[in-house]
Amino acid sequence: MSSIPNEFIETLLDRIDITDVVGARVSLKKAGKDYSGLCPFHAENTPSFTVSQQKQFYHCFGCGKNGSAIGFLMEYEGLDFVDAVKDLAQLAGMQVPASNFSGNQKPKTNLYAVTEKAARVFQHQLRSAAAVIDYLKGRQISGQTSKTFQLGYALNEWDALSKRYSDEEQSLLARTGLTTSNDSGRVYDKFRNRLMFPIHDKRGRVIAFGGRAIETDQKPKYLNSPETDLFHKSNELYGLHLARKHSDENFIIVVEGYMDVIALHEKGICNAVATLGTATSAQHIKNLFKVWDRIVFCFDGDGAGVQAAEKALITALPLYLDNKIIEFLFLPQGEDPDSYVLQHGQSGFLAALDAAKPLSDFMIEIISKDINTKSIDGKAQLHEKAKPFINQLPKGAFKTMIAQQISEISGMSMQVKNPIKPQQTGSDTNDNPLRKLISLLLNTPQLCENLSNQLNFDTLSFKGTEIVDKIVEIQHNNPQINSAAMMEHFRNSQYARYLGHLMRMYDHLDDTQKALEFEDIVSYLKKLSSQAEIERLRNKQLESGLDSAEKQALVQLLREKSNQ
Ligand code: UTP
Ligand code: MN
Repeated sequence: MSSIPNEFIETLLDRIDITDVVGARVSLKKAGKDYSGLCPFHAENTPSFTVSQQKQFYHCFGCGKNGSAIGFLMEYEGLDFVDAVKDLAQLAGMQVPASNFSGNQKPKTNLYAVTEKAARVFQHQLRSAAAVIDYLKGRQISGQTSKTFQLGYALNEWDALSKRYSDEEQSLLARTGLTTSNDSGRVYDKFRNRLMFPIHDKRGRVIAFGGRAIETDQKPKYLNSPETDLFHKSNELYGLHLARKHSDENFIIVVEGYMDVIALHEKGICNAVATLGTATSAQHIKNLFKVWDRIVFCFDGDGAGVQAAEKALITALPLYLDNKIIEFLFLPQGEDPDSYVLQHGQSGFLAALDAAKPLSDFMIEIISKDINTKSIDGKAQLHEKAKPFINQLPKGAFKTMIAQQISEISGMSMQVKNPIKPQQTGSDTNDNPLRKLISLLLNTPQLCENLSNQLNFDTLSFKGTEIVDKIVEIQHNNPQINSAAMMEHFRNSQYARYLGHLMRMYDHLDDTQKALEFEDIVSYLKKLSSQAEIERLRNKQLESGLDSAEKQALVQLLREKSNQ
């Protein structure tokens, strides 16, 4: 949970205008009462991205992304909630309440200053490290490319870096992982005598470092920053900030090494990123699919490469939607993208990419490995082995097709099970009139005022009454609240996604039509709730009899019913 008070978020979302925030990043055109443009979160040629000034909410009909200005900034800039709020607050000339940063939520701003400075120090030290410059030249890295990647050099001394920071800054330096201490408490530079690769976040801020050994007997070959407040390996990809500038390329290449990204860049292939000595995570894939629709994983042709590729495939399956493409390129034994592009040049590497294996082929290859698909036993084995793979795939044409293909090979029909999505409250909610009510209340929170005394939710068995109660309570505390601020109250709730989708249910109606729809639904729900109450009272009458107040209530309800 964020520690920023709700009132602050509400005021903030009231002061800023989402069309300014989005409009500064996406070209928007007025279309009716809303604005529309090309969705920044998926590739498209006709606009399905709309921004509502009235609701202060954006929505893409193509990819389903939606949210407030805060959500937009988080998604677009890759910020966390607090940073997005801060950016917006600055725009609105507001000060985020400082006292609310508790314990482990210390501001990161100072840490970036520390890592950025270290990158500059290393870069500066490289200039007079002739042997390291020769090493780079030997690997065909130009001065321009080392500048682009801010390559540097860590001197072979215990405190060459730390001595450049004041006593007050030492604890920050330790928090970035640039210094460590030994058992006796002596603090020293973590990186010594290494070629330094700054690792940047998506926005281009330095968050960590990789350092390559220069001497042959120096171990490990690569030393990396530990996990810190700024750096989480499974979220970050080396070179992403540069590759994002080439998001017009319709695909992204994922490689394994720092030097692979750099060598490809040197040869003009700038749409490449590397994992940071870890397996490809679901978060990596999600982040890449935000910008590109096609991912080509490029692995070494050896056993380790194939193993890494298998892992990547398994991670990718649940994220493999029909509008996405994943391919695998295996380089010849002993080659990595760096050596391959140096030997075969840009065109050679691009030609290899063209021949990359589609995910479906690789998946069938994995499933049928070591199985004789001609024998009956083998067919049965294949069928069994395929199940977990296919069950992981999201519902869609690809899933159906691949299941069919397995059925053909194995001669047994493949039952397609769909993975359970936790955010789905169940299909019965489709017919639930409360969905409509919630949608209208989110659209126009002020309608809550016409609701309070009319309905007795206790008698209704629909899912979602607790959401309505919550919306009513929030509106009661802030009568002028807008849609976006209302939605922010649900940011961390299990309903967030669901509500985001409900929000657009009545987009085709104007305000008057919405008000009429609201009346219809309320009177329908009222009818349902009095019907339920009538049944309850009648049952009680049969079982144990009614007291006089209950009798009167029943008569009243029946009279109302006959008047309808
Ligand atoms: P490689 O051993 O394939 O290195 O490791 P490389 O990128 O080809 O480097 P050069 O060409 O020998 O200079 C691939 C990646 O695995 C991680 C690093 O992120 C590296 O880029 N790695 C490797 C480590 O973290 N530590 C190591 O000791 C080795
Ligand atoms: Mn290499």
